[in-house]
Amino acid sequence: MKSANLIHNVEKKVDSVLELMTIEEKIGQMNQYNGFYDVTGPSPVDGDSKTKYDHLKNGLVGSMLNVRGVKEVRAVQKIVVEESRLGIPLIIGFDVIHGYKTISPIPLAEAASWDLDAIKKSASIAAAEAASAGINWTFAPMVDISRDARWGRVMEGAGEDPFLGSKIAEARVKGFQGDDLSDVQTIAACAKHFAAYGFSESGKEYNTVDIGTSTLYNIVLPPFKAAVDAGVKTFMNAFNELNGIPATGNLFLQRDILKNQWKFNGFVVSDWSSIAEMTSWGFSKNLREAAKFAVIAGSDMDMESYAYIQHLSDLVNNKEVNESLINDAVRRILRVKFELGLFDDPYKYCNEERESATIGSKQNNEAVLDMAKKSIVLLKNENQLLPLKKSGQKIALIGALANDKNSPLGSWRLASEDNSAVSVLEGMQKYTDNLLTYKKGADLIVGETAFIHELNINTTNKSEFKEAIDLAKQSDIVVMVLGEHGFQSEEGRSRTNIDLPGVQQELLEEVYKVNENIVLVLNNGRPLSITWADKHISAIVEAWHLGTQAGNAIAQILYGDYNPSGKLPVSFPRNVGQIPIYYNYKNTGRSLPNTDKKMVFWSHYSDVENTPLYPFGHGLSYTSFSYESLNLNKNVYSVNDSINISVNIKNTGKIKGKEVVQLYIQDLFASITRPVKELKAFKMVELKPGESETVHFTLDKNSLGFFNNIGKYVVETGKFKIFIGGSSYTTLEADFELQ
Ligand code: NOJ
Repeated sequence: MKSANLIHNVEKKVDSVLELMTIEEKIGQMNQYNGFYDVTGPSPVDGDSKTKYDHLKNGLVGSMLNVRGVKEVRAVQKIVVEESRLGIPLIIGFDVIHGYKTISPIPLAEAASWDLDAIKKSASIAAAEAASAGINWTFAPMVDISRDARWGRVMEGAGEDPFLGSKIAEARVKGFQGDDLSDVQTIAACAKHFAAYGFSESGKEYNTVDIGTSTLYNIVLPPFKAAVDAGVKTFMNAFNELNGIPATGNLFLQRDILKNQWKFNGFVVSDWSSIAEMTSWGFSKNLREAAKFAVIAGSDMDMESYAYIQHLSDLVNNKEVNESLINDAVRRILRVKFELGLFDDPYKYCNEERESATIGSKQNNEAVLDMAKKSIVLLKNENQLLPLKKSGQKIALIGALANDKNSPLGSWRLASEDNSAVSVLEGMQKYTDNLLTYKKGADLIVGETAFIHELNINTTNKSEFKEAIDLAKQSDIVVMVLGEHGFQSEEGRSRTNIDLPGVQQELLEEVYKVNENIVLVLNNGRPLSITWADKHISAIVEAWHLGTQAGNAIAQILYGDYNPSGKLPVSFPRNVGQIPIYYNYKNTGRSLPNTDKKMVFWSHYSDVENTPLYPFGHGLSYTSFSYESLNLNKNVYSVNDSINISVNIKNTGKIKGKEVVQLYIQDLFASITRPVKELKAFKMVELKPGESETVHFTLDKNSLGFFNNIGKYVVETGKFKIFIGGSSYTTLEADFELQ
């Protein structure tokens, strides 16, 4: 009842503000500008900055992005609050993608933890830190599913699976927004990029997306729906077109699905200049028409296209755009501002004391360290190379990335300080009873690294190989930190080759010739193809880009002070040619080899196996687990029954460890073919050596159906399989029938 009253009150307040507004002021609310001049200095006298400044004063800006820090935010807020006619506060947006200044692991890495509480906490820490710096809206979470490691933005999502992706979307939204958006520690979240950006053809950035309805409804949309169900306040549309219609001008996506079917009552912001880009797509003839298409399609706020501010007024006057659409968009924007409490106090996020006490606090650093450890995936560990002994060993540490304090921050960490991460070298130096010596071996990057510029990879200079090889010769163990620089995966960073970049593969092979005891620590923002390493290297640790505390987290894993528990949220291909590769593929008419093994007429490649190098869900521990006694309470169920499933899991190793128990189903025959496996549940258990536990799962019709080709959720009777285990390659299975 109380919440119904609150909603009613907000609606009344929104209406009362709307009544006071001129059409120009309404359109102003739909206009978002990038930070444009030093707002704390003298006001601009001419040019673009002057126009933006005047627009602020005249109440023609609803939001700013990339203005940050209490001082700056207060200065822009003051212009609109004190100088514009109605004083409607700005909503201040920023890309708080994985931390604000204290950086947590990249989102893909966090997804590898499969730890929803930890992921939620990580988002809440990021929100509180950003909120203390004046920000009240993040452009996160990115909930785009992707099956293409060539696409650089794989690093920003939760991987390839819609079920895991939906759970993580929910955790992140709840982490950012908390239970009460008006709390000064929380900020509005933004589910992006709506929709299907992760399916950009051939992994090329901003490319065409042409996918069928089954993929759209069953793979792409579920995490967005989960974000809506979790109460996300805003959406961002996308740069891509979907089946011929740019997402920004896509009425089907934004109005039919999001606003009508899902009843989303927040607002949709365009992506950066994506309204204007509809003309480059060959969809709108000019910016004016782009503004018209976008607003009709349901894009409520224009990020940096200047389309609405320049053309909407004229479009309304000419009756080409109905004013009711403007009212609807503004109502949505004002609603979020009210919920944030900005009308009660526009400066509520502007408190210098809170800012300095919160940013980079000990507590935030501890939280990102914890998240970083949980994000690491042990891909391979043979010959007991790991964990490292704590004393009496000569350890060679090799690789440019091992001594890099910038790269571990990953990309999309705009507010962090350069070189503020703990490097692997620094992390390992804290363990002092071994002899640790570092040699770079080779540069990864030549020259500057920057978020917005192409990187120059070292593909020729091997002059420092020799000293690294000499060091390896004299050492008991070699730890090599290789992979991608933090800026190698993100927006605008598609790659056609996902091998170890530059001369790193060669360095690895040369070192291996003199010392086979190599622990390979990977830094990367996407799956890499490391087939050679998998064949030759005994221990491989997937350490992504882990943020501010990266080096400490990696060292604690290497030395066994933390037992790895991460599981891959994406499949690792054997080579780039297998892409797209994902665990929930479908059978074909010819999935299995012929009995005559030489016969070629089946779905396969002649040069590489069909399987990935490391499957979705894979991840080892320093202990081991066995699974047995998979039981279902019945074998035949009716559609409305609950299906109770249990399995026994035992820690068969020598130390305590955590395991993510994964449950998959297969719907054997359906009116639309179904994947060979679909993740439907998972649970994390922690067991002491020798300890076992019975894990219970319950499935019902909400897990057993699928969306048909008109987007209707259907549950079909028939035979199903259940699989349970520690990765998508589990073989423990049971059958049941739905009648
Ligand atoms: C473009 C990106 O696609 C989007 O994700 C981001 O939030 C905006 N730029 C703002 O920086």
